[in-house]
Amino acid sequence: MKNITFLFILFYSISGISQSKEMNLMPWPQEVSIGSTQFKIDPNFTINVNKKSTKRIDIATTKFIQRLTGRTGIFFENGFAFNADKIKNASLEISYKRAGKLEINEDESYELKVSPTKISIEATTDIGVIYALETLLQLVDNNETSYFFPEVTIHDFPRFTWRGLMLDVARHFQPVDVIKRNLDAMTSVKMNVLHWHLTDDQGFRIESKKHPKLHQLGSDGLYYTQEKIKEVVEYASDRGIRVVPEVDVPGHATAILTAYPEIGSKDTSYSIERFSGIFHPTLDPTNEKTYEILEDLFGEMAMLFPDQYFHIGGDENEGKHWDENLRIQEFMQKNDLKTNHDLQTYFNIRLEEILAKHGKLVMGWEEIMTDKMPTTALIHSWKGTNEGITQGSSLMKAAKKGHATVLSNGYYIDLMQPASEHYLVDPLTKNNDLTAEEKARILGGEATMWSELVTPLNIDSRLWPRTAAIAERFWSSEEIVDISNMYKRLETISFRLEELGITHIRNRDVILRNITSNQNIEALVKLTKVYEPLKIYTRNKGGVEYKTYSPFTLFADACTADASEAIIFNNLVNKYLSEKKTGFKKEILIMLKDWATNYELFLQIQKSNPILKTLEPLSKNLSEISKSLILILEGESLKYSNYQKIKNQYLELKKPKSDVEFASLKSFKNLIEFFSKQNKCKIELNIPSIQQ
Ligand code: ACM
Repeated sequence: MKNITFLFILFYSISGISQSKEMNLMPWPQEVSIGSTQFKIDPNFTINVNKKSTKRIDIATTKFIQRLTGRTGIFFENGFAFNADKIKNASLEISYKRAGKLEINEDESYELKVSPTKISIEATTDIGVIYALETLLQLVDNNETSYFFPEVTIHDFPRFTWRGLMLDVARHFQPVDVIKRNLDAMTSVKMNVLHWHLTDDQGFRIESKKHPKLHQLGSDGLYYTQEKIKEVVEYASDRGIRVVPEVDVPGHATAILTAYPEIGSKDTSYSIERFSGIFHPTLDPTNEKTYEILEDLFGEMAMLFPDQYFHIGGDENEGKHWDENLRIQEFMQKNDLKTNHDLQTYFNIRLEEILAKHGKLVMGWEEIMTDKMPTTALIHSWKGTNEGITQGSSLMKAAKKGHATVLSNGYYIDLMQPASEHYLVDPLTKNNDLTAEEKARILGGEATMWSELVTPLNIDSRLWPRTAAIAERFWSSEEIVDISNMYKRLETISFRLEELGITHIRNRDVILRNITSNQNIEALVKLTKVYEPLKIYTRNKGGVEYKTYSPFTLFADACTADASEAIIFNNLVNKYLSEKKTGFKKEILIMLKDWATNYELFLQIQKSNPILKTLEPLSKNLSEISKSLILILEGESLKYSNYQKIKNQYLELKKPKSDVEFASLKSFKNLIEFFSKQNKCKIELNIPSIQQ
């Protein structure tokens, strides 16, 4: 354990990245200049606000003081900020002009100055003040005797106005406390839009007073009352976060149709969907009752959600039930609607008119973009190109057509890809042919947390810390792209999220304690540091292995993307193979020996926990191949037969098991091939992937 921590520090020092705890800022501010002095934190620390505080400032300053106490152990004499210059020479002077409006292009900028005797925050809006306080908290540092803020001048503002997180609460309901803690986490990395995906095939999560069958029959009793929705919207508003609700129609509508089968496109009864995937139940756009129900629902929701935008979904409607319905076909003919897409546009425009009556603008997944769709509709780009994670071409197309647009393609954090992949996806790449006006229509992006595989237990570890890296992409300059520096800062940002109640770190052990009946979890913890959950829809392939009510309490749920020891090992192997320094080899050997011996520890707990039997190959394979690699690295045994053996071990390690995959596979391959070539054994591991 100690060894690995040491290696981690060593890795960062050899890679030339500063080890200083200072300046672990994320998102990185637009302009930072650092001095050499410090502002020492003591119990007399006071805050003054230039005029009467808004509720936002009250909450932010009070929490700021509490968080500062939590980190420093210093109990301040004043637990609240003073208002309207009621105190002279406060330690922190906050000056703001007005309450921020929760709308796009609001001023969220701030200026933060720390000198040895004074800290000042200046902002146009109270939202800028909140962000300045978050930055200041990220600056807290200490030496052996005291805590301090380093001398610094920061001028900061967002690159994009739309910095969102989409939470799907339909596949798995997420209680209000999960939403609230994640709103706090969002604010801490300066995200400002919660896109609340409230309905889907698997659940309708809003209380409707006009059509109560919707939540009564469509939610298994798991829905937000209108009072709770107001509470969340207010909580978000207090943190500078807009809440954009989504009612996904006309597809993804099984839960709605469970309550109102008469507005479905097929003459049948429906029941809440228990699997994941794309399903056929679709609202009937030719039935006036469909619009009556939606108009009532949208009217209720318009009162609950003050935001200007209302997301109508619109994705993945294949229209199979439209094709099969003669009445719908006749309607299409009569109204000159040639394709299902035309029919969906007819439907969308009807919804657009309903929402306009409530002063709302339509937002929808990119499928809503057709020639007839008014350009007031905001296009949410989500589909990839054939090259995988690249920018959704619909984003550029929307901007060119005159739509405001937001990117989610590349930010699907439910797919369990490394932070580095999401980090490099930019809503606005340098090489584009957009005019300045078109560029301005690209409002930003949203990380998307689809909830097929998450419950309140594991959702935080799927959201964080990777969402913080995405938040940086939305806020910071496009020049901030250094991945190792991002990961270094993310370490600190990640553990600080615990202060806000985020459970991404601690719930690993909760899951492991459960499956070991509270025995020593050390061996399993070690495995979570090298195995990652299967990525990109390979877990629960086809959506049929798990039901939506399955709890996610398995070993795979204790694992995360960016497995920590695998990252260190991969970096060491890359360095070793490019520089051939024995220092790196020594460090690689330390890690391999640790993995090799972990199996003995695993066997001790496996005996008394049958649930662990399926995990044995994970531990055993890793131990065996590590032992073989140790021999090869130590140069003791270089025969062809050794390479044959390790090849088989490698092929075994490569097989996904228990919903996880080994995260240093490529490094193992590179090492084995390097040594086999060096020893003229000619072992090639380039065998087509078993999984793909
Ligand atoms: C989506 O991922 N179906 C928007």
